[in-house]
Amino acid sequence: MKVGVFDSGIGGLTVVKSLLEHKLFEKIIYFGDTARVPYGIKDKTTIIRYAIEAVEFFKDFDIDLIIVACNSVSAHALDEMREHSTCPVIGVVEAGILATANALEDKNSNILVLGTKATINSKAYELGLKDKEFKNIESKATGLFVPLVEEEIYEGEVLDATLKHYFQNLQKPDAIILGCTHFPLISKTIKNYFGDETILIHSGDAIVEYLENKFEFITKYKNTKLEFFSSENPQALKNIAKKWLDK
Ligand code: DGL
Repeated sequence: MKVGVFDSGIGGLTVVKSLLEHKLFEKIIYFGDTARVPYGIKDKTTIIRYAIEAVEFFKDFDIDLIIVACNSVSAHALDEMREHSTCPVIGVVEAGILATANALEDKNSNILVLGTKATINSKAYELGLKDKEFKNIESKATGLFVPLVEEEIYEGEVLDATLKHYFQNLQKPDAIILGCTHFPLISKTIKNYFGDETILIHSGDAIVEYLENKFEFITKYKNTKLEFFSSENPQALKNIAKKWLDK
């Protein structure tokens, strides 16, 4: 199995990390659109245009599946990507909704969805969770976390102030959907803020759960080959991959 993983930039490496931990693929071809990141502040038509270009990019690689690691793209452009792709395309939003539904028995649980403006404005998580009969959903665009993570700020004063800025008026949720590629890198700090009882849903782990349920043919591979591509400064992507993935 050869998979293409698409993200707006470097954040999708958090999804690659989960794929590697679970040894799901023989080869992962990662494409980050680093020249045009961030997508999370762009409008739907622009996100769709970029996402279709990513499908074209993967056509040279003879892949079996495209995983959209970017929540903003998964929320807005999955249908259009599927129309243009010759292989299946799956996204982290649907996987995140299913993982949340599997993790929470009580339909009255308080769920907090975090994401970029694009993801939150799409209401993709909210509608999907309502379909699963969850009633108490709060959504919050927390875009400032993205540049903080890119600055490798995973804890400390600046992050604490940002958490307070976004969360001070919220009631304690039972579950938080980390609906953005970057947020798993600050999950410890988010968990500390709300306390241990709050469940965090991570896109990478959700996509692994989704793949293991949907694609029974998946076998485990001892080693996964990795190839990284980006629309700008591929060396910077490789450097960050070294740090985050230990590769
Ligand atoms: N990858 C994006 C997401 O998961 C975050 C970064 C961006 O805004 O492009 O929504």
